Amino acid sequence: MPSDFRLAVGGNRLATLSFDSAGRKVNVFTREALHELERLVGELAGRRDIGCLVLLSGKEGFIAGADLDGIAGVTDPVEAEAGARFGQRLFAAWEALPFPTVAAIRGVCLGGGTEISLASTWRVASDRPDTRIGLPEVRLGILPAWGGSVRLPRRIGVGAALDMILTGRAVSGRSALKSGLIDALLPEARFLDQVRDFALERLDRRRKEAGGGDGHGGGWKELLLEKNPLGRKIVFDQARKKTLEQTKGQYPAPLRALEVVRVGVEDGPRAGFDAEARSVAELATGRVAKNLIHVFRLGEESKRGPGVPGGEARPVGAVAVLGAGTMGGGIAQLVAQEADLPVRLKDLDPAALARGMEHAAGLFDRLVKKRRLTRAEERRKMALIQPALDYSGFGRVDLVIEAIVEKLAVKQAVFAEVAAAVPEAAVLASNTSSLPIGAIGETTPRRERVVGMHFFNPVHRMPLVEVIAAETTAASAVNTVFAFSRRLGKTPVLVRDTPGFLINRLLMVYSTEALWLLDEGHAIEDIDRAMVDWGMPVGPLALTDEVGIDVAGHVARFLQESFPDRVALPPWLARIAAPDRLGTKTGRGFYRYDGRERKEPDPAVYALLGLAPRVQSPDPGLLADRMVLPMVNEAARCLAEGVVRSAGELDVAMIFGTGFPPFRGGLCRWADQEGLGQVVATLERLESAVSERYRPAEALRDTAAAGGFYARFPGGAVTS
Ligand code: NAI
Repeated sequence: MPSDFRLAVGGNRLATLSFDSAGRKVNVFTREALHELERLVGELAGRRDIGCLVLLSGKEGFIAGADLDGIAGVTDPVEAEAGARFGQRLFAAWEALPFPTVAAIRGVCLGGGTEISLASTWRVASDRPDTRIGLPEVRLGILPAWGGSVRLPRRIGVGAALDMILTGRAVSGRSALKSGLIDALLPEARFLDQVRDFALERLDRRRKEAGGGDGHGGGWKELLLEKNPLGRKIVFDQARKKTLEQTKGQYPAPLRALEVVRVGVEDGPRAGFDAEARSVAELATGRVAKNLIHVFRLGEESKRGPGVPGGEARPVGAVAVLGAGTMGGGIAQLVAQEADLPVRLKDLDPAALARGMEHAAGLFDRLVKKRRLTRAEERRKMALIQPALDYSGFGRVDLVIEAIVEKLAVKQAVFAEVAAAVPEAAVLASNTSSLPIGAIGETTPRRERVVGMHFFNPVHRMPLVEVIAAETTAASAVNTVFAFSRRLGKTPVLVRDTPGFLINRLLMVYSTEALWLLDEGHAIEDIDRAMVDWGMPVGPLALTDEVGIDVAGHVARFLQESFPDRVALPPWLARIAAPDRLGTKTGRGFYRYDGRERKEPDPAVYALLGLAPRVQSPDPGLLADRMVLPMVNEAARCLAEGVVRSAGELDVAMIFGTGFPPFRGGLCRWADQEGLGQVVATLERLESAVSERYRPAEALRDTAAAGGFYARFPGGAVTS
């Protein structure tokens, strides 16, 4: 069997143990690696020729954590608990080695990697900018259970430890040094020499102080832990309150982690390890963890997954963005920030151009404030964005991203015009949210280079890009946009050029149902609350306000023409969309706004509808069914029509494009877990009780008969 570890004993009794997972790009603690390490630790415990042992990585990063396959596959809590206890024993044996150990962290150090570091005598990290140290377990619905939940608070204090464990956020080398998580931050140049010097210096200091302390430092924090129960109670109470607010009771892991940390601090390490193992066993075998791990893998898959066969992606060295409005300014900033490329930002209107530049500058400023960028980098990147009122400089552009007004004739004219200004091979992408890509390219010479690149608003926050291929689009254009979206840190999903593409089509049946519920006498807040409680980031009416009632109405009418059998709009919609009631941007919509802050629902809406909310205490489960099931029905149609390639890609698109709750695993996965037979039965009930709109699609019945979405539309490698 190939070996994952290499031990070498050098001069000065300094030994190194190098972790280099066989056949993998990153180090992970697979079952085999753990067993090999166990054997090694057993052997090391008897070595008298070692004065200090440095744990290193043979890869680019340090250790990425435990093997997800093992966690995803475990269904038996007894087995899961045994897995946790095995890791705990192993790291305890590591901690008890008869000589000090140093974890030499460089690059990514997560989960089990951080836990073995915490069980080491000292931790040092390289100042390489990609050094990140974290315990991301709660993001996968579990918690650090190889001793991390017990050791971290002892190392950096309860408050800081809870912050890392409950959010799963990784910290930089610099902040790890500040919190005491690491003992030294060493320059990347000559890292290994520096680690050796560090180890020798610490050993020397130890010898001098022989008998005085164990070199673990952090004495005052231990004091705080031991002596101040009242202060601790406040820290735990605050963390609990914040966690409840953030998870709304839908994610069990952070609350369990909080309890485990508390037990470890209050009742001692042994009780803490016990709590870790028991809690993780329950969490890892539960539905939420399985869904979160599934979503994580879908995301990873879509970072690598294929574009389309038949043409290579073209290299992109310079970009142009047309239209400096809401979307264009954000897209230009993203290109400069993530791809570090020059970008021409063109608009017709100098005032719009100034606003677009200001928008980009504001986004950079936020990154500086978050310490993700220095002022000098901000200036350099801002200078990459060159505002333009004409096509000068377009001769060197490889990719154009158009984000001008949503009017077909205007887009057609602009595409024909820009095609003459850029090199023949340049790819021309449109950010249209509803117009057919095929039609936009109709007047463009060499229209095979016209493709859709649909970002979501706000651009810097929403990870999805729908890559829309028309019948006429060349594979190389699709693959160029695929590759470039990834370079921008986005997740591309391939979508066919059909009305509403994927996300707007699904969202439309959802938000129009919200309008009908309002029409039936439900209160605005009840409708939205039902969906927020179900897990959506905002309710459908608040979302309509954010998009703009006019813009949403425009897309809805367009989809109504395309799908008249199931997209129906209440007749009063036009009355609501008055010029002074277009949603957030006008300060009034279904809600009232103070600036961009949403206040209470606007009672005037009911007067406009000619009705008062009359449904008292509605059943939130029923309301959620009314809005979610039409999306499931539409998803079946989209998959059957080949609008999207697999159930997994549809789920990724929903989560990354709309904030669909990850703990439910995705729209298709949720429906599969509910059981499609059950979904069809509920739709039939709604069809007879409410409207024909609910009639189960042929495609849904077929999908149910084939055993569910994931069985019928498996797609890529992700099938769990
Ligand atoms: P916007 O109205 O904020 O900005 C459009 C900008 O294009 C304006 O500054 C206008 O002066 C400029 N413009 C108009 N004709 C032009 C031309 N011939 N050459 C250069 N600039 C021109 O619009 P927004 O919201 O940014 O939308 C732009 C595109 O992005 C539309 O196709 C829209 O459907 C799409 N989109 C919008 C989303 C949103 O939430 N706002 C989300 C996703 C896509």
